[in-house]
Amino acid sequence: MIRRVLRRLGEMPLWLVVIGAASVFTFGVYVTVVWPAFQMAPITPEGRAHPYTAVENTGRLIYFREGCWYCHTQQVRPVAADRALGPPALPGDYYYDVPQPMGTERTGPDLFHVGSRIPSYIWLKDHLVNPQKEVPGSVMPSYSYLSVGDQDALVRYLLSLR
Ligand code: HEC
Repeated sequence: MIRRVLRRLGEMPLWLVVIGAASVFTFGVYVTVVWPAFQMAPITPEGRAHPYTAVENTGRLIYFREGCWYCHTQQVRPVAADRALGPPALPGDYYYDVPQPMGTERTGPDLFHVGSRIPSYIWLKDHLVNPQKEVPGSVMPSYSYLSVGDQDALVRYLLSLR
């Protein structure tokens, strides 16, 4: 069977093989590069997106540095299970987030709209320093080792996620 197919291929005129290969390549480039590029542009800021203040941006960098995103996502999906987390995420929500802190694991709750859900500076700060005091049995580690300035920036960043 395979031998027969190979023999038939070998009998094909070269121009047909070249045109066939070029067509497959062009189609591949279209569906993996050209089409997605048209679909993705132009993304404009929408919903939650706002330029971060200097201190919020510092908090954002600490969020990455401390690996908060190992345990927390920032992506609300349009499914029933995520309804309590706020409006589903749209591409423009991430306009000012480069790179995006979307995360992959939900060991803790999604933080996409945490600033609306928990708008208390004091609670967020106390929780960051001693999660088990606020939520008994929590597996979130304490970030009491962060400087007061870093804790402040991180909490201001969390509050900006509305
Ligand atoms: C090892 C996993 C883990 C890491 C790392 C982690 N968290 Fe958590 N986080 C949790 C869990 C589990 C909860 C739920 C229990 C609780 O509220 O303490 C939680 C809850 C929270 C809450 C309350 C959210 C809500 O809706 O109740 C906030 C805010 C939060 N984390 C922020 C952070 C920040 C900021 C960092 C990084 C500095 C971080 N977390 C790192 C596991 C983690």
